[in-house]
Amino acid sequence: MKSSNLLFIGFMGVGKSTLSKMLAKELKTVCLDTDKIIENMESRKIKEIFADEGEEYFRELEKKVALWLEKNVQNSIISTGGGFIHVKNLKKIGTIIYLKSSYEGIIKRLKNHPQSKKKFAKRPLLQDKKRAKELFLSREEHYLECADFVIEIENYKNEKDIVKEIKKLARA
Ligand code: S3P
Repeated sequence: MKSSNLLFIGFMGVGKSTLSKMLAKELKTVCLDTDKIIENMESRKIKEIFADEGEEYFRELEKKVALWLEKNVQNSIISTGGGFIHVKNLKKIGTIIYLKSSYEGIIKRLKNHPQSKKKFAKRPLLQDKKRAKELFLSREEHYLECADFVIEIENYKNEKDIVKEIKKLARA
């Protein structure tokens, strides 16, 4: 492993936050979430940051967080926002695990969630379904390029099995 952090990347709604929390618990370590760090920095929700300041402003905050993580964080599980892959120092932060799914699989997962409405509402870039799919397609290759490991989440029965698989990688 090139760094002690494990970094989850992947499209919105694929399950990065859920899986990183589960994994952190298993590995008895700390879990950080780049979106949550940004919300804390700004004392407002991602949705509000997008609405008040625009996407560019949000991307600058992601860059700041990326530099902070590289300098200060070790032995942690880090869940990232779907567009975090654009930060220049991504690979220096930790070992990158790409949670891969089809677009349809992601939408199905979100629709089946008990708090489905909330899950869609909090994501500004999921509001327009056609544009969201285009964004997904435009990012797929980049996710693959960045990844040290790829986990095809649709190949697993449940989240527990995914965590088991990632645990094996973490030990390698
Ligand atoms: C974004 C993904 C979101 C959040 C923001 C932008 C993106 O995080 O960072 O709304 O550009 O894909 P999730 O991937 O956790 O939904």
